[in-house]
Amino acid sequence: MKDLRGKLVLVTGAARGLGKNLAIRLAKEGARIVATDLRESDLNETAQAIRSTGGVAFTYGLDVTEPAAIEATRTRIHDDLGRIDVLVNNAGVVFGGPFLDVPLEKHLLTYKVNTLGLVAMTHAFLPDLIARSEGHLVNIASASGLLGLVNGATYASSKWSVIGFSDSIRLELEEQRYPHVGVTTVCPSYISTGMFSGVKTPFLTPMLTPEGLVDKITKGILGNKPMVLEPPLVKALPVMKGLLPARMFEYLADRFGVSSSMKQWRGHGDR
Ligand SMILES: NC(=O)c1ccc[n+]([C@@H]2O[C@H](COP(=O)([O-])OP(=O)(O)OC[C@H]3O[C@@H](n4cnc5c(N)ncnc54)[C@H](O)[C@@H]3O)[C@@H](O)[C@H]2O)c1
Repeated sequence: MKDLRGKLVLVTGAARGLGKNLAIRLAKEGARIVATDLRESDLNETAQAIRSTGGVAFTYGLDVTEPAAIEATRTRIHDDLGRIDVLVNNAGVVFGGPFLDVPLEKHLLTYKVNTLGLVAMTHAFLPDLIARSEGHLVNIASASGLLGLVNGATYASSKWSVIGFSDSIRLELEEQRYPHVGVTTVCPSYISTGMFSGVKTPFLTPMLTPEGLVDKITKGILGNKPMVLEPPLVKALPVMKGLLPARMFEYLADRFGVSSSMKQWRGHGDR
């Protein structure tokens, strides 16, 4: 997608953190933002921030774990605004801790939001992107989708799944000759949004800021990049994992502090 001016961009999980920052950033590019979130009342802040700089924002409460709600919201958006041009699947949750210490319902919710919600949103809105003259799908995965994460097994695996899904859809769209629809998979390490507060960032992996990351994601959309991997060390992960013997890779990941990074995870502390 070469230009975001006038494009209708739907962002899930836009009430705070990366989603909020991305909505504000894309509005500055001239996009009209459809900000959605489970926490509908918190979306006002996102909308206000966009409108205060002359941008255009609409808000819809939406729980991505509810397929019926997704369908109903799509109908409302079509009636109110028309088809969307860009879908940003950003909503996500994490419940850190040793696998058996975290209640099963939290593990299952992790997949419901991070993986199944993302698939359901894509199923509902991909026809919009195909129908427009240019469309783009952004899936927010994680660097933890590229390796194993101690004290984050279901979070990491929900993101492994997102990467596999996102890349497959990208190839499928190319195969089906829809070159006007781009797909970008985003794999950041830890970001200072509060979702991972308490973590110890691994060596050479400084805490990312949402403001810095949204610049990279915006460039990813405008440059039709298949992947956005941040910070730079994350770009080397797939190569290292592919070339090194498994035990050697794990040893290095341990020495870099990946394995112990989640030990003191607290998160937002609001769920
Ligand atoms: N923060 C990090 O370190 C980090 C690192 C890599 C990837 N990510 C990913 O980036 C994305 C954004 O994370 P963040 O750090 O901004 O988190 P955040 O917790 O600050 O924001 C997540 C948003 O998603 C919303 N949400 C949660 N469940 C939802 C549901 N069922 N339906 C709709 N909305 C829902 C929340 O209300 C919240 O507004 C997530 O997918 C996350 O996994 C985050």
